[in-house]
Amino acid sequence: MKALILSGGKGTRLRPLTYTGAKQLVPVANKPILWYGIEEMVAAGITDIGIVISPETGEEVRNKTGDGSLFGAKITYILQDEPAGLAHAVKVARPFLGDSPFVMYLGDNLIQQGDLKLFLAQFIEKQPDALILLRYVENPSAFGVAQIDGDGNVINLVEKPKHPPSNLALVGVYFFAATIHDAIAQIKPSLRGELEITDAIQCLIDNQKQVIACQLEGWWLDTGKKDDLLEANRLILDTYLEKQVEVQTDSQSQIIGRVSIGEGSQIINSTIRGPVVIGKNCYLENCFIGPYTSIADNVVLIETDVEHSVILESAKISRIHQRIIDSVVGQRAILGAASRRPKALRFMIGDDCQIELT
Ligand code: DAU
Repeated sequence: MKALILSGGKGTRLRPLTYTGAKQLVPVANKPILWYGIEEMVAAGITDIGIVISPETGEEVRNKTGDGSLFGAKITYILQDEPAGLAHAVKVARPFLGDSPFVMYLGDNLIQQGDLKLFLAQFIEKQPDALILLRYVENPSAFGVAQIDGDGNVINLVEKPKHPPSNLALVGVYFFAATIHDAIAQIKPSLRGELEITDAIQCLIDNQKQVIACQLEGWWLDTGKKDDLLEANRLILDTYLEKQVEVQTDSQSQIIGRVSIGEGSQIINSTIRGPVVIGKNCYLENCFIGPYTSIADNVVLIETDVEHSVILESAKISRIHQRIIDSVVGQRAILGAASRRPKALRFMIGDDCQIELT
């Protein structure tokens, strides 16, 4: 059994963060999203992992993630020249996959820990041509959507339909036998110009191959947009964070609940109310850090209140006299109240940023 993790694509929905990096490397609870998928594979016993990368962000993914030894796995990188679709990525990965059955995992998806193992067991036991995971969603038009009959058989699959036939979305984790390659060879690019894996699975169904659907009960997030990223951060901190404070804090500071603080960080006259993760070598002075906040390495916060937010590496925030909530602050961003006159707002805002002022 092999694994194929898709970490190519354009990442347009997470702009501006994805102008400077891969969306799959954006951290959730201070760990790249992609790494959760790799860890799930290894926990399920799959250690031969191919990662599909793009020319734009591939080197960054490769440098950060390495050859797999960090995870107890063997990672092979597969370059996809252009983001021509999920089925196209499988086509490009054929030399790596050979005729092996495989699990395909979209590198920006997160599913509840332990679930992959359960579905893998079903795939191995029933040996279908494909096993897909479905989850009830309120906004099916944003996903691949499945229609199933009274016995739970998949009768129809359609990618991002305007008029969805059901509320059952395709989760970004699929199990395939080698027959998927014949199906991919038969499909044509969709209206958006991509070779869709949804169409390839539909082709299996049309050819009377066995496609089984399982309903995912645990949580699932497609971290493609800001609010999904914040929700993923909340869920991961809520579920997995353990208290681990590796630094001395001063007597005026209060650390409440599940808080993790990395080596070399200084916390001065501040209150941290967990679940909160703070990376290495951060400096926090006169701050309140509220629940569900992740602060990456080398961040400086002075006289700042933050809650339910993700602050990326080396950002600096000082003397903002309103609480920052539901926010994502990019790497090296600087946000602060000016001391000079005239009192005014001064910005240097990158493309596609979103700022809400009251
Ligand atoms: O998240 C689940 C959804 O994922 C499914 O419901 C849809 O049926 C499926 O098509 C997919 O839709 P998205 O629009 O969310 O896919 P996205 O373009 O975001 O790509 C998913 C991942 O695959 C992402 O990590 C980038 C990577 N990718 C994407 C394309 C198009 C590649 O590596 N190569 C590609 O050519």
